[in-house]
Amino acid sequence: MSNIGSYDDRIKNFSWSIAEDELGYKDGDIINIGWYCSDRICQMGKGDKIALYHEGFGGKEKSYTFNDIRLAGNTIGTFLRSLGIKAEDRVCLFMDRIPELYLSFLGVLKIGAIVQPLFSAFGDESLYVRLENAGTKAIITQKKHLSKIRKIIDTLPSLEHIIIVDYNKDKQYQNKEVGFILNEADPVEEMNICPTKADSPSVLHYTSGTTGQPKGVRHVHYSLISQYLTTKWVLDLREDDIYWCTADPGWVTGTSYGIIGPWSLGVTLCVLDRGFSAEAWYKFIEKYKITMWYSAPTAIRSLMKAGDEIVKKIDLSSLRHLASVGEPLNAEAVTWSERVFGMPFLDTYWQTETGSMMITNHPGMKIKPGSMGKSFPGITTVLLDAKTYEPITKQGKAGLIAFKPGWPAMMTTYWNNEEKYKEKFINGWYLAGDRAYIDADGYYWFIGRDDDVINTGGHLVSPFEVESALLEHEAISESAVVAKPDEVNMEVVKAFITLKPGYEFDDDTELNIMNFIRKKLSPLAMPQEIEFMENLPKTRSGKIMRRILHAKEWGEEIGDISTLEDD
Ligand code: WT7
Repeated sequence: MSNIGSYDDRIKNFSWSIAEDELGYKDGDIINIGWYCSDRICQMGKGDKIALYHEGFGGKEKSYTFNDIRLAGNTIGTFLRSLGIKAEDRVCLFMDRIPELYLSFLGVLKIGAIVQPLFSAFGDESLYVRLENAGTKAIITQKKHLSKIRKIIDTLPSLEHIIIVDYNKDKQYQNKEVGFILNEADPVEEMNICPTKADSPSVLHYTSGTTGQPKGVRHVHYSLISQYLTTKWVLDLREDDIYWCTADPGWVTGTSYGIIGPWSLGVTLCVLDRGFSAEAWYKFIEKYKITMWYSAPTAIRSLMKAGDEIVKKIDLSSLRHLASVGEPLNAEAVTWSERVFGMPFLDTYWQTETGSMMITNHPGMKIKPGSMGKSFPGITTVLLDAKTYEPITKQGKAGLIAFKPGWPAMMTTYWNNEEKYKEKFINGWYLAGDRAYIDADGYYWFIGRDDDVINTGGHLVSPFEVESALLEHEAISESAVVAKPDEVNMEVVKAFITLKPGYEFDDDTELNIMNFIRKKLSPLAMPQEIEFMENLPKTRSGKIMRRILHAKEWGEEIGDISTLEDD
């Protein structure tokens, strides 16, 4: 079975009903992602097929069939119901990449509640703002993360249940804490799955903007339609594939393509619960005979750095197809992968808000290394003039990436922040917040973001969040946070600060500040460098001009500051 069809044919004859028909869905039907990812696959006779190969931090292996994940989803869902969790309640998943994370994802969706996955390395403050905004009712977690939750529980009145998946019966637990050990629970063979519809909310992912707190991107069950089809056509997943998505489900790649896409197609998924190491990653591919690998540019650049020799020592012949997402994939990384793996990484462009891939290198299409490719069939992309917001027709001219709303996985709002959601639209277009140009063959080339958000190793960091953490330190008077170039991560976080009278900037102060903010921020948002300044550059009205600091870091022309708009 091959999924490869011609891009030109597909784009000409395209309708989302292709995915609806394949999934047996008609307008107005019940559509529940939890059911589609497990029960439906079992109904198709694949209950005994492996759904998940899991390798834990210490190398411990586990595997689950589609019937196992169906039962686990039922069992977890039924337990959540017994606690009083209802449809549309927010349930946060705050776990490392352990099997319970993937199984709970299905359980929460099956009862129609909203999954709120959060990266387990978040500190208590990052956790707090997201739980507070969502009014989260329950959090599923591990013992090792309890201390962070205990610190904030008293300030979160909506949070009623802390469910611990590795509960220790002999230990004393506190108010609202309850244990749930999946292996010890009676498996629930049948349950009433919540009859969610196309517009019922499913997943709530938090993403950072330039200003304000992180925004909760609200997705719906109908997102399945485009997640399924992009997985099938771009990741080209087939019946016998063994698939590895390296992303953590705390981010949208880890759910849209790290759970929903592959399982809705009944494809075997591999999960490695450990961070990056070239050797460990290659060995993982060799051990599980991974055929399709979806990763990110920072990881690919780290592999390049580890060298070609190590690739030769490990058998990677199982690999058939590679793809990448999250940040610009440089041409060198594409040609390197062609040389060492015998095939290129195909770049894909999309966002938390879009829920599924928008611009892709479709298999079979000619690849131009360094380009993001073309619009996925059914997606209308335009580049808008930054001043008039009119579509640009001239090839090669930079514009703002915008999409015509209406693809199935598009976000439906920012949670509790309709205003910010509305700001994303202009003249009927959804503004992605990035700049690109299009060439004569219709290929898109990424230029940069249209805001101050920092993309470090594929993770968006809000300068505002880091600045706020810095300002809480007693010695700091002002702060400005920008991206600084980095060989592997493309960008890393750099902070500029001024100090209050009476404080000196020395190694001790710097260490003290670093230790202070480490407790507040996720490790990914931590500044790599703090630079002390007497004064920060400001507009006439007193607003800090990050772009001047940014230009300084990137060796760019600053221009005549006196003529800069006072915005
Ligand atoms: C932002 C979205 C979608 C999953 C991971 C990121 C940047 C994403 C690419 C790419 C250049 C890219 C954009 C985008 N980005 N893919 N192929 N080339 N930049 O999701 O955290 O919402 O970030 O990541 O700036 O807007 P996200």
